[in-house]
Amino acid sequence: MRICMIGTGYVGLVTGCGLAEFGMKVTCVDKVAEKIEMLEQGELPIYEPGLKDLVEKNVKEGRLRFSTDIPEAIRNSLVIFLAVGTPSDDDGGADLSYLFNAVDEIAENLNGYKVVAIKSTVPVGTAKQVSQRVVSLARNVAFDVVSNPEFLREGSAVEDFLHPDRVVIGTESEQAVAIMKDIYSPLYLIETPFVITNNETAEMIKYASNTFLAAKISYINEVANICEIVGADVHVVARAMGLDGRISRKFLHPGPGFGGSCFPKDTRALYHLAKEKGYDPALIGSVIQVNENQKRRMVEKIQRMVGGNLAGKVIGVLGVSFKPNTDDIRESPAIFVIRNLLKAGASVKVFDPAAMEEAGKVFDNTIAYANNAYEVAEGADAIVLMTEWNQFRRLDLQELKNRMRSPVFVDTRNVYDPQKMKQAGFFYEGVGR
Ligand code: UGA
Repeated sequence: MRICMIGTGYVGLVTGCGLAEFGMKVTCVDKVAEKIEMLEQGELPIYEPGLKDLVEKNVKEGRLRFSTDIPEAIRNSLVIFLAVGTPSDDDGGADLSYLFNAVDEIAENLNGYKVVAIKSTVPVGTAKQVSQRVVSLARNVAFDVVSNPEFLREGSAVEDFLHPDRVVIGTESEQAVAIMKDIYSPLYLIETPFVITNNETAEMIKYASNTFLAAKISYINEVANICEIVGADVHVVARAMGLDGRISRKFLHPGPGFGGSCFPKDTRALYHLAKEKGYDPALIGSVIQVNENQKRRMVEKIQRMVGGNLAGKVIGVLGVSFKPNTDDIRESPAIFVIRNLLKAGASVKVFDPAAMEEAGKVFDNTIAYANNAYEVAEGADAIVLMTEWNQFRRLDLQELKNRMRSPVFVDTRNVYDPQKMKQAGFFYEGVGR
């Protein structure tokens, strides 16, 4: 089966390549010619473990190709996946302009029955709007719109694609369900559950899932903050909570607040959607608010730890990406923290194993860039661990301390053991312990 994937961002690339691995003939298209040129030369525009090898293999075996000729790819495909960005607009809603530009292009090139499968995260009701738009532009051509949300995590996206917890297919067309099942048929072998439902429900599943995970994080962050006040250890609390199967231990790790290209945007979008429909989503509003407060608390913590005044202090930051194993810094709490440290008059030095280039695009020459954690420590008044990269888990503490001006360590990911850090001579604080 021939498939066209519109959008070669992280979702489009991983999905396109994954579907090729499933045996489909996939053309990944993008309007940005430089991206396609890069991909054709075997270079990836994103850092995602395992993806480069998989792309290389599928290109070599003739199932995956890249092109800027979107009309041709649409015409030659039975299924067109939409994996374009849906960033937040000014009020926190989802900006669907990229999506509808692509839909117009599909409508102009409908040369027979096709399935339009929406992978991008879109507000409930979008599939219906896409349908109406195609009908208004391309009369008398049969097509179906399927809502097929993705649940990939950056950093483990390839693994998540090949071994998903579930596949959600939203459409009322039996023909489209059959085609989608055929595409994902290798997953039957590993008994992946399929949820077949209508478009609106499928769209809601995506937002409800992401917002629930975000809620777990805001919840444990709030519990962590209370733990700090009452002298409890949030790690033990979270572990014991997680032993209850109804709660589960996943996504109960406290930190500097959730970031990335999904949770912040999707929680805002669901909040905005509910408000627009006349419902006040109080809990979702709090999830967002707690997250904003958490980022601010990290800055206050650093300020307190260096004696109350950040002006003139040198702060070494370990990690800029919003989580490990990615170079993605979108809405990373580290960006918020660094900005506010600079605003308070501190100078900042950073190191990240993958996101230095991205950090440079945001901070340019307003911060200093180091080549490793020990360079970050050189002359620092405090080290702030922002991302739990494996490289930062076993640092030589004496070496670090020897290089610092004062041994202050703020561990926003609770990577280190508070007792051991104290024994090593650090003035140390984690989150909620
Ligand atoms: C998230 C979801 O986990 C995926 O299922 C979903 O497909 C994806 O969004 C999306 O909508 O595209 P992702 O943003 O890649 O994936 O990253 P997560 O691993 O979920 O982490 C998100 C943020 O939450 C990170 O900043 C992370 O540090 C933070 N987090 C996560 C915590 O602070 N504590 C936790 O216990 C877990």
